[in-house]
Amino acid sequence: MTRVFRRYGVGARWYDVLSGERVVYGVGRRVGIGMLDLSPGDVVIDLGCGTGLNFPLLARAVGPEGLIVGVDRSGDMLAQARRRAQWLPCEVVLVEADAAELDVHALAGVIAEQTGRDRADALVTTYALSVMRGGAEEAWTRAAGLVCSGGGLLVVDMQPPVGVWRIFSPLARLACAFGGADIRLRPWRFVRPVAERDSVRGVAMRGGHVVAVAARRA
Ligand SMILES: C[S@@+](CC[C@H](N)C(=O)[O-])C[C@H]1O[C@@H](n2cnc3c(N)ncnc32)[C@H](O)[C@@H]1O
Repeated sequence: MTRVFRRYGVGARWYDVLSGERVVYGVGRRVGIGMLDLSPGDVVIDLGCGTGLNFPLLARAVGPEGLIVGVDRSGDMLAQARRRAQWLPCEVVLVEADAAELDVHALAGVIAEQTGRDRADALVTTYALSVMRGGAEEAWTRAAGLVCSGGGLLVVDMQPPVGVWRIFSPLARLACAFGGADIRLRPWRFVRPVAERDSVRGVAMRGGHVVAVAARRA
């Protein structure tokens, strides 16, 4: 766990170039965030936001009246996210916290301070729950408790490629090991228990390696 923490500490400033964003992982956030149907003025929590690679897409969707609340336990990743946020048209609040021990009342307070209401319209987490490993379900469930009924839920994460794409499995495993991610966690299974019946939709990309699952909060 300590090694994972350092990876997103001193390594934070190289994360964007080393993360395989253009070739493999960028498509997951683009497709996933598109599945959320966000509206101008929405409040979105980005759990395990890292350097804020989701922020430009989220900001475009929620507009100048919207709010992004980025949560990450790495101050170094958040420092990169803060740099990115200063160019965005919407308000961004960054919270340094371990998501598995997230103080939901404090986070509700942060949202209320900015918006006058204490619920978010959507929760997004991309490539982060697999890094949280044993704490992932607790982290997801706590944060999902802050989303209003009917609000958007999105998990984008990784699994071993499927079908003929299995030839790329060693590469996928290497990428996940490099990032400290558990490629077998399949964290999108945490969505259904907190989602409205029949609202769960999923898409697999890049030979099944990248999976996006979206739903509405029950
Ligand atoms: C692979 S990065 C993904 C970052 C970003 N979501 C993205 O799509 O590029 C994983 C992030 O999860 C964060 N993280 C890992 N465990 C965490 C925890 N328990 N609480 C909060 N953040 C955590 C790391 O600091 C890192 O920034």
